[in-house]
Amino acid sequence: MSHDTIQQNKMRQDLSGHESVWLFGYGSLIYKADFPYLERRHARIRGWVRRFWQGSHDHRGTPQSPGRVVTLVPEPDAVCAGMAYRVSPEVFAHLDVREKNGYLRFTTDFAFADGDHADGLVYIAEQDNAAWLGPATAKQIARHIASSHGPSGANREYLLRLAESLRELGEEDPHVFAIERELRALDD
Ligand code: SIN
Repeated sequence: MSHDTIQQNKMRQDLSGHESVWLFGYGSLIYKADFPYLERRHARIRGWVRRFWQGSHDHRGTPQSPGRVVTLVPEPDAVCAGMAYRVSPEVFAHLDVREKNGYLRFTTDFAFADGDHADGLVYIAEQDNAAWLGPATAKQIARHIASSHGPSGANREYLLRLAESLRELGEEDPHVFAIERELRALDD
């Protein structure tokens, strides 16, 4: 699959005719909402875990030296917490560009903190995408993140802001927090 998923995403769902669409964010989309939204709610999706297994060529690294960012990996019964945004369909033109480095839109069920549910979209970079990096130890991932930079800034900022946002939501993520600990240990 090519690095650039803009054209594929445009054809994946027909959003015309929808007044608004729910989007689930589990990475930078939790803390960086650079798009207009109608509503924002703490939400969870089932069957996926957050992993720093995706390369970033366009935000937190470069094609020559990709950074590491999160994607979702299927895991039965796992629950991934994040932030859901209700947006107008036009917002996906911007989101498709932002998430173009291997992420495809999938439809999933969101559970909100008050027990409500809704169907919406989530961007996931699957294993067959050209920027996929795959598993590594928390220490290896922290070292990689510590040395990566891209047009959107330092890769460490992405990790630290994500960990902080999850704490603000009152959420535990052992994978993210272990990498954060290893990164801070490198600073000592
Ligand atoms: C997301 O935040 O939902 C997708 C991954 C990212 O942009 O960091």
